[in-house]
Amino acid sequence: MKNFLLINNKINKFNKKIDVSGDKSLSIRWAIMAAQAIGKSRAYNLLESEDVNNSIKCLKKLGIKIIKNKKFCDIYGKGLNGFSYKENTIINAQNSGTFARLVLGMLARAEKNVILQGDESLSNRDFLRVIKPLNQFGVKITSKKNKLPIKIVGTKYLRPIKYEETKGSAQVKSCIMMAALNSPGITNINCLPSRDHTERLFKYLDLNIKIKKKINKHNISIEGGKQYKAFNYKIPGDISSASFFIVLTILSKNSKLVIKNINVNKTRTGIIDILKKMNANIFLKNKKKYKGEDLADIHVESTENLKSINCPKKFNSRAIDELILIFLVCAKANGTSYFKNLGELRHKESDRLKLSHNILKMLGAKVILNSNSLKIYGKPNLKNKNNIVIKNYMKDHRIFMFSCIAALALGGKWKIYDKKSINTSFPEFLKILRKLGANFS
Ligand code: S3P
Repeated sequence: MKNFLLINNKINKFNKKIDVSGDKSLSIRWAIMAAQAIGKSRAYNLLESEDVNNSIKCLKKLGIKIIKNKKFCDIYGKGLNGFSYKENTIINAQNSGTFARLVLGMLARAEKNVILQGDESLSNRDFLRVIKPLNQFGVKITSKKNKLPIKIVGTKYLRPIKYEETKGSAQVKSCIMMAALNSPGITNINCLPSRDHTERLFKYLDLNIKIKKKINKHNISIEGGKQYKAFNYKIPGDISSASFFIVLTILSKNSKLVIKNINVNKTRTGIIDILKKMNANIFLKNKKKYKGEDLADIHVESTENLKSINCPKKFNSRAIDELILIFLVCAKANGTSYFKNLGELRHKESDRLKLSHNILKMLGAKVILNSNSLKIYGKPNLKNKNNIVIKNYMKDHRIFMFSCIAALALGGKWKIYDKKSINTSFPEFLKILRKLGANFS
């Protein structure tokens, strides 16, 4: 099967209701927490994707029984640090930064060596951000230049830590929270705000967690060692996956879309707040609570008079995986948009800041990238007239899907490589595009 997609036509008007697959962050967190619970936990609507399947494979290698079928996934947890595996067991997180960071925290107390590997993209990413706090707990980590493969040797003499988290990274925070859960005493994390699913799960499970929120800093304290019971979970839709269609609808003429049952946790809805500020027709309806998370249906419509934005940096972490899509909307807005403090975008599956800037330039937008800030000169009548080939981008799933949306919204001829990358987070992506009437081969 060829591994590229050809898109030669813009999408026509559509009016549909869709579901998107389960939230990736919650799927991985549920699996990790279920593996450390006592008894059988069941999840429905667990994301069926490579990141989640690889996480499950790794947990199985650590001795956790997992049964998965099309309807549900059962994890038979053996309690905190209840793993059983041989010395030097190799686990491979492949592309999943979230699993790789969280599993290291989960293994902080495990005394038998584990070697954590990843694919080419993950092996290029920075692990110092989690090695530092883990070392402080007393965990030994060996690596070359703080990159994967990493050997981790946990210890039963874990020391609770005080840690200043400065990246605004939920993966770093959650890694520390996993180690704190396995450690005696009280761990204290002072962190920049980031997605808070782990905190919400800890609260739902009645673990010993206290959170104090100040405007730009959150203080989390966790008293470790409390064992919890198995729990069931119905994973809601992923706003990061929904965002591709939100942006496509806004940029297409005479179109309407309802995306049902999405996790609209405030730490994830930066894209909605930013697009609303830009005048986009987007609303949340049917709001509900579910096990500490907030859910809603997202209603979105084509928007003609988009305004530019001078994006406050506090929105960045709330839209970290969606910023590249927001840049595309800015290219079609009236006026000049500014974004700053975008450094973390360079540390994703690829350097998303550089790549999204390059792609916007290829399609004729005027954009200026200055170290970690971006200036986008919007043009409401921007159309792509070029032949565009997208390749060599570390097979980054979000860059592939972003390129498809740019092609369907702005026209021109596109050849986009690494189609298989959608399997990382969103295997249903192309099926849904077809349902909306998109044409591609
Ligand atoms: C994630 C956190 C974010 C995000 C990633 C998923 C998570 O990364 O980009 O796709 O589930 O915790 P950082 O925490 O490194 O910003």
